[in-house]
Amino acid sequence: MIKNQDFLIINDIGALLTLSGAAKKKGQRISENDLGIIKNAAMVLEKGRISWVGPATELPQDFAQRKFKEISAQNKTVLPGFVECHTHLVFGGDRSSEFELRNQGMSYSQIAAQGGGILSTVRATREISHEDLRVISQKRVNHFAKQGVTTLEIKSGYGLSLEAELKQLEVALCLQGPKVITTFLGAHAKPAEFETYEQYLTEVLQVYLPEIKKRNLSQRVDIFVEHGFFSAEMADRYLKAAQEMGFKITIHADQLSLSGGADLAAKLGAQSADHLICVSNLEIAKLKKADTTAVLLPTADFYLKCAYPPARKIIDAGVTVALATDFNPGTSPTQDLAFVGMLARIEMKMTLPEVISAYTVGASRALGLLGEIGSLEVGKKADFIFVESEWSELFYKIGDLDVSQTFVSGEALN
Ligand code: NIG
Ligand code: FE
Repeated sequence: MIKNQDFLIINDIGALLTLSGAAKKKGQRISENDLGIIKNAAMVLEKGRISWVGPATELPQDFAQRKFKEISAQNKTVLPGFVECHTHLVFGGDRSSEFELRNQGMSYSQIAAQGGGILSTVRATREISHEDLRVISQKRVNHFAKQGVTTLEIKSGYGLSLEAELKQLEVALCLQGPKVITTFLGAHAKPAEFETYEQYLTEVLQVYLPEIKKRNLSQRVDIFVEHGFFSAEMADRYLKAAQEMGFKITIHADQLSLSGGADLAAKLGAQSADHLICVSNLEIAKLKKADTTAVLLPTADFYLKCAYPPARKIIDAGVTVALATDFNPGTSPTQDLAFVGMLARIEMKMTLPEVISAYTVGASRALGLLGEIGSLEVGKKADFIFVESEWSELFYKIGDLDVSQTFVSGEALN
Protein backbone atom coordinates (compact mmCIF):
# COMPACT_ATOMS: atom_id res chain seq x y z
CA MET A 1 0.00 0.00 0.00
CA ILE A 2 1.30 3.48 -0.88
CA LYS A 3 1.41 5.75 2.15
CA ASN A 4 1.55 9.51 1.53
CA GLN A 5 4.19 10.03 4.20
CA ASP A 6 6.58 7.80 2.28
CA PHE A 7 6.65 10.40 -0.51
CA LEU A 8 8.34 13.78 -0.75
CA ILE A 9 8.20 16.27 -3.61
CA ILE A 10 11.10 18.67 -4.13
CA ASN A 11 9.79 21.55 -6.19
CA ASP A 12 10.83 25.06 -7.25
CA ILE A 13 14.22 23.75 -8.39
CA GLY A 14 15.91 26.54 -10.38
CA ALA A 15 18.17 24.12 -12.23
CA LEU A 16 18.54 20.41 -11.63
CA LEU A 17 21.75 18.67 -12.67
CA THR A 18 20.84 14.98 -12.96
CA LEU A 19 24.23 13.85 -14.34
CA SER A 20 22.29 11.13 -16.16
CA GLY A 21 24.38 11.39 -19.33
CA ALA A 22 27.59 11.29 -17.32
CA ALA A 23 26.42 8.16 -15.49
CA LYS A 24 25.54 6.48 -18.81
CA LYS A 25 29.06 7.26 -20.05
CA LYS A 26 30.54 5.95 -16.76
CA GLY A 27 32.10 9.36 -16.16
CA GLN A 28 34.24 9.12 -19.30
CA ARG A 29 34.90 11.98 -21.76
CA ILE A 30 32.33 14.28 -20.17
CA SER A 31 30.97 17.49 -21.67
CA GLU A 32 28.27 19.94 -20.55
CA ASN A 33 25.53 17.93 -22.30
CA ASP A 34 26.21 15.04 -19.95
CA LEU A 35 25.23 17.07 -16.87
CA GLY A 36 21.53 16.54 -17.73
CA ILE A 37 20.47 20.07 -16.82
CA ILE A 38 16.72 20.60 -16.37
CA LYS A 39 15.52 24.15 -15.66
CA ASN A 40 12.46 24.68 -13.37
CA ALA A 41 12.48 21.06 -12.30
CA ALA A 42 10.82 18.86 -9.72
CA MET A 43 11.83 15.59 -8.13
CA VAL A 44 9.70 12.99 -6.37
CA LEU A 45 11.21 10.78 -3.68
CA GLU A 46 9.78 7.59 -2.28
CA LYS A 47 11.26 5.99 0.82
CA GLY A 48 14.60 7.71 0.31
CA ARG A 49 14.86 6.90 -3.40
CA ILE A 50 14.06 8.88 -6.53
CA SER A 51 10.80 7.87 -8.16
CA TRP A 52 10.38 10.71 -10.66
CA VAL A 53 12.46 13.59 -11.96
CA GLY A 54 11.77 16.13 -14.73
CA PRO A 55 10.46 19.61 -15.62
CA ALA A 56 7.95 20.82 -13.00
CA THR A 57 5.33 21.33 -15.72
CA GLU A 58 5.47 17.62 -16.50
CA LEU A 59 4.99 16.38 -12.94
CA PRO A 60 2.47 13.52 -13.38
CA GLN A 61 -1.06 14.41 -12.20
CA ASP A 62 -1.00 11.34 -10.04
CA PHE A 63 1.77 12.89 -7.90
CA ALA A 64 0.53 16.48 -8.16
CA GLN A 65 -2.96 15.65 -6.89
CA ARG A 66 -1.95 13.68 -3.82
CA LYS A 67 -1.16 15.50 -0.61
CA PHE A 68 2.53 14.64 -0.46
CA LYS A 69 4.92 16.47 1.77
CA GLU A 70 6.71 19.16 -0.23
CA ILE A 71 10.00 20.98 0.08
CA SER A 72 10.62 24.11 -1.95
CA ALA A 73 14.15 24.45 -3.30
CA GLN A 74 13.45 28.20 -3.60
CA ASN A 75 14.88 28.37 -7.06
CA LYS A 76 18.26 26.98 -6.00
CA THR A 77 20.45 24.64 -8.01
CA VAL A 78 20.11 20.95 -7.12
CA LEU A 79 22.69 18.30 -7.92
CA PRO A 80 23.81 14.88 -6.70
CA GLY A 81 25.61 14.91 -3.36
CA PHE A 82 29.39 14.88 -3.62
CA VAL A 83 31.16 11.58 -3.14
CA GLU A 84 34.46 11.94 -1.30
CA CYS A 85 36.10 8.68 -2.38
CA HIS A 86 39.58 8.89 -0.80
CA THR A 87 40.22 10.09 2.75
CA HIS A 88 42.26 9.09 5.81
CA LEU A 89 39.85 10.97 8.09
CA VAL A 90 40.16 8.95 11.32
CA PHE A 91 43.53 9.91 12.82
CA GLY A 92 45.03 11.28 16.01
CA GLY A 93 47.43 14.22 16.30
CA ASP A 94 48.65 16.55 13.58
CA ARG A 95 51.77 17.01 11.48
CA SER A 96 52.11 20.79 11.46
CA SER A 97 55.77 20.62 12.52
CA GLU A 98 56.51 18.33 9.59
CA PHE A 99 54.83 20.83 7.29
CA GLU A 100 57.26 23.44 8.55
CA LEU A 101 60.21 21.10 7.89
CA ARG A 102 59.00 20.40 4.36
CA ASN A 103 58.71 24.09 3.68
CA GLN A 104 62.29 24.53 4.86
CA GLY A 105 63.49 21.98 2.30
CA MET A 106 63.15 18.47 3.75
CA SER A 107 61.36 15.96 1.53
CA TYR A 108 58.40 13.72 2.43
CA SER A 109 60.57 10.63 1.90
CA GLN A 110 63.41 11.99 4.08
CA ILE A 111 60.99 12.68 6.94
CA ALA A 112 59.47 9.19 6.56
CA ALA A 113 62.92 7.55 6.55
CA GLN A 114 63.63 9.21 9.93
CA GLY A 115 60.53 7.69 11.53
CA GLY A 116 58.29 10.72 10.99
CA GLY A 117 55.52 10.99 8.44
CA ILE A 118 52.94 8.20 8.53
CA LEU A 119 54.60 6.59 11.56
CA SER A 120 54.23 9.73 13.65
CA THR A 121 50.47 9.73 12.99
CA VAL A 122 50.47 6.01 13.85
CA ARG A 123 51.85 6.81 17.31
CA ALA A 124 49.20 9.48 17.90
CA THR A 125 46.37 7.28 16.58
CA ARG A 126 47.38 4.36 18.78
CA GLU A 127 47.44 6.61 21.85
CA ILE A 128 44.09 8.35 21.50
CA SER A 129 41.03 6.72 23.08
CA HIS A 130 38.20 5.32 20.96
CA GLU A 131 35.83 8.02 22.23
CA ASP A 132 38.19 10.95 21.67
CA LEU A 133 38.92 9.64 18.18
CA ARG A 134 35.21 9.39 17.49
CA VAL A 135 34.57 12.96 18.64
CA ILE A 136 37.29 14.57 16.50
CA SER A 137 36.36 12.37 13.53
CA GLN A 138 32.68 13.31 13.79
CA LYS A 139 33.61 17.01 13.63
CA ARG A 140 35.54 16.34 10.45
CA VAL A 141 32.63 14.40 8.96
CA ASN A 142 30.28 17.29 9.77
CA HIS A 143 32.64 19.61 7.93
CA PHE A 144 32.40 17.39 4.83
CA ALA A 145 28.60 17.15 5.16
CA LYS A 146 28.29 20.95 5.15
CA GLN A 147 30.11 21.00 1.82
CA GLY A 148 27.58 18.59 0.32
CA VAL A 149 29.32 15.24 0.85
CA THR A 150 26.73 12.45 1.02
CA THR A 151 29.06 9.43 0.70
CA LEU A 152 32.48 9.38 2.36
CA GLU A 153 35.27 6.85 2.04
CA ILE A 154 37.52 6.49 5.09
CA LYS A 155 40.71 4.43 5.17
CA SER A 156 42.42 2.88 8.15
CA GLY A 157 46.22 2.70 7.99
CA TYR A 158 47.26 4.81 10.99
CA GLY A 159 46.93 1.93 13.44
CA LEU A 160 49.09 -0.77 11.88
CA SER A 161 48.56 -3.03 14.93
CA LEU A 162 45.46 -5.22 14.78
CA GLU A 163 43.93 -3.44 17.76
CA ALA A 164 44.50 0.07 16.42
CA GLU A 165 43.39 -0.79 12.88
CA LEU A 166 40.15 -2.24 14.29
CA LYS A 167 39.71 0.91 16.39
CA GLN A 168 40.01 3.13 13.32
CA LEU A 169 37.52 1.08 11.31
CA GLU A 170 35.05 0.81 14.18
CA VAL A 171 35.19 4.57 14.75
CA ALA A 172 34.68 5.19 11.02
CA LEU A 173 31.59 2.99 10.98
CA CYS A 174 29.88 4.75 13.90
CA LEU A 175 30.16 8.23 12.38
CA GLN A 176 26.84 9.94 11.59
CA GLY A 177 25.68 11.83 8.50
CA PRO A 178 27.05 10.88 5.09
CA LYS A 179 27.14 7.19 4.22
CA VAL A 180 30.61 5.91 5.22
CA ILE A 181 32.53 3.36 3.12
CA THR A 182 35.56 1.96 4.92
CA THR A 183 38.78 0.76 3.30
CA PHE A 184 41.40 -1.29 5.13
CA LEU A 185 44.85 0.26 4.56
CA GLY A 186 46.90 -1.84 6.97
CA ALA A 187 49.55 -1.91 4.23
CA HIS A 188 50.24 1.82 4.57
CA ALA A 189 53.69 1.54 6.19
CA LYS A 190 55.67 -1.03 8.14
CA PRO A 191 55.28 -0.69 11.91
CA ALA A 192 58.51 -0.80 13.94
CA GLU A 193 57.49 -4.11 15.59
CA PHE A 194 58.20 -5.96 12.35
CA GLU A 195 61.63 -6.53 10.82
CA THR A 196 60.62 -6.74 7.20
CA TYR A 197 57.74 -5.66 4.99
CA GLU A 198 57.20 -9.31 4.03
CA GLN A 199 56.78 -10.38 7.65
CA TYR A 200 54.31 -7.59 8.32
CA LEU A 201 52.25 -8.33 5.19
CA THR A 202 52.11 -12.01 6.10
CA GLU A 203 50.72 -11.11 9.52
CA VAL A 204 48.21 -8.73 7.96
CA LEU A 205 47.09 -11.45 5.55
CA GLN A 206 46.87 -14.23 8.08
CA VAL A 207 45.53 -12.33 11.09
CA TYR A 208 44.21 -8.83 10.32
CA LEU A 209 42.22 -9.53 7.13
CA PRO A 210 40.32 -12.56 8.48
CA GLU A 211 39.39 -10.53 11.59
CA ILE A 212 38.16 -7.59 9.53
CA LYS A 213 36.13 -9.95 7.39
CA LYS A 214 34.67 -11.72 10.42
CA ARG A 215 33.66 -8.41 12.01
CA ASN A 216 32.42 -7.04 8.69
CA LEU A 217 34.44 -3.83 9.13
CA SER A 218 35.40 -3.31 5.48
CA GLN A 219 34.90 -4.71 2.00
CA ARG A 220 37.87 -2.93 0.46
CA VAL A 221 41.65 -3.24 0.74
CA ASP A 222 44.22 -0.59 -0.22
CA ILE A 223 48.04 -0.59 -0.25
CA PHE A 224 50.70 2.14 -0.58
CA VAL A 225 52.91 0.95 -3.45
CA GLU A 226 56.01 3.13 -3.46
CA HIS A 227 59.80 2.94 -3.25
CA GLY A 228 60.65 2.84 0.45
CA PHE A 229 57.20 1.43 1.27
CA PHE A 230 55.54 -1.66 -0.32
CA SER A 231 56.85 -2.90 -3.66
CA ALA A 232 54.58 -3.88 -6.55
CA GLU A 233 55.69 -7.51 -6.17
CA MET A 234 54.65 -7.59 -2.50
CA ALA A 235 51.40 -5.85 -3.35
CA ASP A 236 50.64 -8.35 -6.11
CA ARG A 237 50.76 -11.29 -3.71
CA TYR A 238 48.89 -9.39 -0.99
CA LEU A 239 46.08 -8.03 -3.13
CA LYS A 240 45.49 -11.33 -4.94
CA ALA A 241 45.03 -13.03 -1.57
CA ALA A 242 42.69 -10.22 -0.45
CA GLN A 243 40.64 -10.67 -3.63
CA GLU A 244 40.40 -14.38 -2.97
CA MET A 245 38.96 -13.53 0.44
CA GLY A 246 36.29 -11.43 -1.30
CA PHE A 247 37.70 -7.92 -0.84
CA LYS A 248 37.58 -5.30 -3.59
CA ILE A 249 40.91 -3.59 -4.11
CA THR A 250 42.36 -0.15 -4.71
CA ILE A 251 45.96 1.11 -4.77
CA HIS A 252 47.90 4.25 -3.77
CA ALA A 253 49.75 4.20 -7.07
CA ASP A 254 52.70 6.04 -8.61
CA GLN A 255 52.48 9.05 -6.30
CA LEU A 256 56.16 9.81 -5.67
CA SER A 257 57.72 7.65 -8.40
CA LEU A 258 56.70 5.25 -11.16
CA SER A 259 56.66 2.17 -8.96
CA GLY A 260 54.27 -0.28 -10.60
CA GLY A 261 51.07 0.63 -8.75
CA ALA A 262 48.91 1.61 -11.72
CA ASP A 263 50.20 -1.30 -13.73
CA LEU A 264 49.21 -3.67 -10.93
CA ALA A 265 45.82 -2.00 -10.43
CA ALA A 266 45.03 -2.67 -14.10
CA LYS A 267 46.37 -6.21 -13.99
CA LEU A 268 44.23 -7.13 -10.97
CA GLY A 269 41.13 -5.19 -12.06
CA ALA A 270 41.20 -2.81 -9.07
CA GLN A 271 38.24 -0.49 -8.53
CA SER A 272 40.60 2.45 -8.62
CA ALA A 273 44.21 3.55 -8.90
CA ASP A 274 44.82 6.69 -6.87
CA HIS A 275 47.30 9.60 -7.21
CA LEU A 276 48.94 8.63 -10.57
CA ILE A 277 51.35 11.57 -10.71
CA CYS A 278 54.07 9.59 -12.46
CA VAL A 279 52.10 7.46 -14.94
CA SER A 280 52.85 7.47 -18.67
CA ASN A 281 50.72 6.64 -21.71
CA LEU A 282 51.43 2.95 -21.22
CA GLU A 283 49.88 2.76 -17.73
CA ILE A 284 47.00 4.99 -18.84
CA ALA A 285 46.18 2.60 -21.70
CA LYS A 286 46.21 -0.32 -19.25
CA LEU A 287 43.86 1.47 -16.85
CA LYS A 288 41.48 2.11 -19.75
CA LYS A 289 41.55 -1.52 -20.84
CA ALA A 290 40.90 -2.72 -17.28
CA ASP A 291 38.15 -0.10 -16.77
CA THR A 292 39.80 0.99 -13.52
CA THR A 293 38.89 4.47 -12.26
CA ALA A 294 41.67 7.05 -11.87
CA VAL A 295 41.32 8.94 -8.59
CA LEU A 296 43.19 12.24 -8.73
CA LEU A 297 44.14 14.06 -5.51
CA PRO A 298 45.51 17.49 -6.42
CA THR A 299 45.60 19.01 -2.92
CA ALA A 300 48.22 16.38 -1.95
CA ASP A 301 50.27 17.47 -4.98
CA PHE A 302 49.81 21.08 -3.95
CA TYR A 303 51.06 20.42 -0.40
CA LEU A 304 53.97 18.27 -1.62
CA LYS A 305 54.82 20.85 -4.28
CA CYS A 306 55.16 18.07 -6.82
CA ALA A 307 53.78 17.65 -10.33
CA TYR A 308 50.05 17.14 -10.91
CA PRO A 309 48.81 13.95 -12.61
CA PRO A 310 48.43 14.04 -16.40
CA ALA A 311 44.67 14.48 -16.14
CA ARG A 312 44.11 15.52 -19.76
CA LYS A 313 45.87 12.43 -21.07
CA ILE A 314 43.90 10.23 -18.67
CA ILE A 315 40.58 11.83 -19.61
CA ASP A 316 41.27 11.87 -23.33
CA ALA A 317 42.16 8.16 -23.19
CA GLY A 318 38.59 7.55 -21.97
CA VAL A 319 39.42 6.53 -18.39
CA THR A 320 36.83 7.31 -15.68
CA VAL A 321 38.20 10.10 -13.51
CA ALA A 322 37.34 10.88 -9.89
CA LEU A 323 38.59 13.66 -7.63
CA ALA A 324 39.01 13.63 -3.85
CA THR A 325 40.73 15.51 -1.02
CA ASP A 326 42.95 12.64 0.24
CA PHE A 327 42.31 14.34 3.60
CA ASN A 328 45.12 13.27 5.96
CA PRO A 329 47.43 15.05 8.42
CA GLY A 330 50.58 14.65 6.31
CA THR A 331 50.22 15.23 2.58
CA SER A 332 46.77 16.81 2.46
CA PRO A 333 45.56 18.40 5.70
CA THR A 334 42.54 19.97 4.03
CA GLN A 335 38.90 19.04 3.58
CA ASP A 336 38.24 21.72 1.00
CA LEU A 337 36.36 20.20 -1.96
CA ALA A 338 36.19 23.57 -3.71
CA PHE A 339 39.98 23.83 -3.66
CA VAL A 340 40.35 20.29 -5.06
CA GLY A 341 38.11 21.21 -7.99
CA MET A 342 39.86 24.52 -8.49
CA LEU A 343 43.28 22.89 -8.67
CA ALA A 344 41.85 20.37 -11.14
CA ARG A 345 40.71 23.27 -13.31
CA ILE A 346 43.74 25.52 -12.92
CA GLU A 347 46.58 23.00 -12.77
CA MET A 348 45.18 19.94 -14.53
CA LYS A 349 43.16 21.73 -17.21
CA MET A 350 39.96 19.88 -16.40
CA THR A 351 36.74 21.53 -17.54
CA LEU A 352 34.00 22.36 -15.03
CA PRO A 353 31.65 19.59 -16.30
CA GLU A 354 34.55 17.12 -15.96
CA VAL A 355 35.13 18.26 -12.36
CA ILE A 356 31.44 18.00 -11.43
CA SER A 357 31.24 14.52 -12.96
CA ALA A 358 34.47 13.45 -11.25
CA TYR A 359 33.09 14.44 -7.82
CA THR A 360 29.78 12.62 -8.35
CA VAL A 361 29.70 9.94 -11.05
CA GLY A 362 33.44 9.23 -11.19
CA ALA A 363 33.84 9.02 -7.43
CA SER A 364 30.79 6.73 -7.13
CA ARG A 365 32.33 4.47 -9.72
CA ALA A 366 35.65 4.43 -7.85
CA LEU A 367 33.76 2.92 -4.92
CA GLY A 368 31.76 0.51 -7.10
CA LEU A 369 28.54 2.36 -6.24
CA LEU A 370 27.49 4.01 -9.50
CA GLY A 371 24.39 1.80 -9.68
CA GLU A 372 23.17 3.36 -6.41
CA ILE A 373 24.45 6.93 -6.26
CA GLY A 374 26.28 9.60 -8.29
CA SER A 375 23.40 10.78 -10.49
CA LEU A 376 19.78 11.77 -9.83
CA GLU A 377 17.83 9.12 -11.73
CA VAL A 378 14.78 6.99 -10.99
CA GLY A 379 15.63 4.17 -8.61
CA LYS A 380 18.80 5.71 -7.23
CA LYS A 381 19.30 6.89 -3.65
CA ALA A 382 17.96 10.40 -3.02
CA ASP A 383 21.38 11.87 -2.10
CA PHE A 384 21.39 15.47 -3.29
CA ILE A 385 22.31 19.03 -2.36
CA PHE A 386 20.87 22.53 -2.61
CA VAL A 387 23.37 25.09 -3.92
CA GLU A 388 22.71 28.84 -3.66
CA SER A 389 24.52 29.83 -6.84
CA GLU A 390 24.40 28.81 -10.50
CA TRP A 391 26.24 25.59 -11.32
CA SER A 392 28.76 27.61 -13.32
CA GLU A 393 29.98 29.13 -10.03
CA LEU A 394 30.94 25.75 -8.55
CA PHE A 395 34.66 25.04 -7.96
CA TYR A 396 35.48 28.69 -8.49
CA LYS A 397 35.85 30.14 -4.98
CA ILE A 398 38.38 28.66 -2.54
CA GLY A 399 36.63 27.27 0.52
CA ASP A 400 33.14 27.89 -0.80
CA LEU A 401 30.70 25.73 -2.73
CA ASP A 402 27.59 27.67 -1.59
CA VAL A 403 25.92 24.46 -0.41
CA SER A 404 22.90 25.32 1.74
CA GLN A 405 21.49 21.84 2.43
CA THR A 406 22.68 18.26 2.15
CA PHE A 407 20.19 15.37 1.85
CA VAL A 408 21.08 11.71 2.38
CA SER A 409 18.40 9.17 1.42
CA GLY A 410 15.93 12.06 1.18
CA GLU A 411 16.66 13.35 4.69
CA ALA A 412 18.22 16.75 5.37
CA LEU A 413 21.45 16.55 7.39
CA ASN A 414 21.63 20.21 8.32
O1 NIG B 1 47.56 9.43 0.24
N1 NIG B 1 50.69 8.21 0.30
C1 NIG B 1 50.24 7.59 1.23
N2 NIG B 1 49.26 7.96 2.02
C2 NIG B 1 48.80 9.27 2.19
C3 NIG B 1 49.71 10.07 3.01
C4 NIG B 1 49.67 9.63 4.38
C5 NIG B 1 50.50 10.45 5.31
O2 NIG B 1 51.47 11.10 4.93
O3 NIG B 1 50.12 10.42 6.49
C6 NIG B 1 48.47 9.91 0.85
O4 NIG B 1 49.09 10.89 0.42
FE1 FE C 1 45.77 8.71 0.39
